[in-house]
Amino acid sequence: MEQINIYSGKDVISKVLIDNDVETLASLLEPYRKVYAVMDSAVAADCPAALEIAAVLNSKGAPGMLVEASEHEKTMETVLKICAWLMEQGADRDALVLAIGGGITTDMTGFAASIYKRGVRFAYMPTTLLAQVDAAVGGKTGVNFDNYKNMLGIIRQPKFTFICPSVLESLSSRDFLSGAAEMLKSFIIEDGGWYGRAVEWLKGYSSTDAKGTYLQENVEELSALIGTAVSVKAGIVSRDQFEGGERRKLNLGHTFAHAIETLAQRKRMESEDAPDITHGEAVAMGMVLAAELSDAYRRESGEPIVQENGFGWGLEQRLEADFLSCGLPIGCPFRLSLMAEVMRKDKKAEAGKVHFILPFAVGDVRMVDMTIDEVVDLMS
Ligand code: GLY
Repeated sequence: MEQINIYSGKDVISKVLIDNDVETLASLLEPYRKVYAVMDSAVAADCPAALEIAAVLNSKGAPGMLVEASEHEKTMETVLKICAWLMEQGADRDALVLAIGGGITTDMTGFAASIYKRGVRFAYMPTTLLAQVDAAVGGKTGVNFDNYKNMLGIIRQPKFTFICPSVLESLSSRDFLSGAAEMLKSFIIEDGGWYGRAVEWLKGYSSTDAKGTYLQENVEELSALIGTAVSVKAGIVSRDQFEGGERRKLNLGHTFAHAIETLAQRKRMESEDAPDITHGEAVAMGMVLAAELSDAYRRESGEPIVQENGFGWGLEQRLEADFLSCGLPIGCPFRLSLMAEVMRKDKKAEAGKVHFILPFAVGDVRMVDMTIDEVVDLMS
C-alpha cells in the first residue's frame, strides 16, 4: 500500500492510502470505534465494488445513508439532511463519517462532518478518478449557493483518503476522462516525465472499446499515475493549505472552465437538448485556452516561446494534439466575449484582477494577475 502524507509544518494532517484491494478499507477503519457511511446512491446501484464496500461496513456495524450526488443537490439542504441523519443515529464527537462516492459526495459529507457538533472526524473513499486525483485530496469541502459553485464551505482535512484505482473499472469512459483532465493538470504543473506517461496510458484507454479490461490490465501504471498526481497535489497543499499563493496553481484552466460550465448550464436552462459538458471536459478546454493566453502573453512580453515537441509549436498546439489523442475535447463552444462577461464576475477576482495560471511549458506554470480586458486584448 502506498501512503502519501499531507503536512502542516512537520505534522501529518491527512493521509492518502492507495491500494487495489477494497478489503484494505477494513484495516483503515480499525482504529475508529463508530463509523457512519454516506454513499452516493449511484455508486450503491451501479458500482460492482459497492457490495464489497458494504460487506466491510456491515462487519464494522456502520450505519449508512444514501445521497443523490448531482450539482443540483449539492446544497446546504443536503448537508443539513446528513447532519440530521447523524443526529438520529446518535453520532457523538467520537464519530468518523466516511464518504463513498465522487467529489460531490465527498465535498458535501466533509462539510457536514465539519459543522456537525462543531466538527467531527471524516474520511473518504473516492470512486471517481476526478475525486481520487483532486476533489478528495487537500481538504476543500462545500456546497453550491446562489448559483455559484462551492460558494459555502471550509478547508478541513479528512483523516484519510483511501484510493482504490480498480473500482474505476465500471466508470463510464466520459466520467473517467473527466478525471483524466485533472490528472493531466497535475503533470502540467509538475512534470518529471509523468505527463508523457499519462498521455500514453490515456491514448491506449481511449483507443480501445474494452475499457474495463484495459484498465484492469494496466492498473499498476494507472495506480502509479494516480499516486504521482496525488503527490503533486499533496506537496502543494502541504506548502499552502489555505490557498494564499502556490495552491492557486491547482486552478490551472479553471477560470475558463467555470465560465464554460456556467454558459453550458445557461444553455441547458434555455433548451434541454443543449449538450452538457463535464467538469473535466471544461477543464481540458480551459487548459487549452490558458495555453493560448500564455503563448500570447509571452509573445507580447518578449518571453521566448518554448519549442514544444520539436515541431516549433506553441504550448497550445501541443496540448490540443495530446488531449485529442487522449479522447478529451478541446474546442470551446462559446465566444470569448461571452466567456469574458462571466469571468468578470469570477468570485476569485481581487481588485478587478484575476490570478491567471499560465502554463509556460509542461512542468512550468506561473501566476500572472490580469484584468479580463487584458485577457480579451491578448486573445483577440
Ligand atoms: N481543486 C483545487 C484545489 O483543491 O485546490
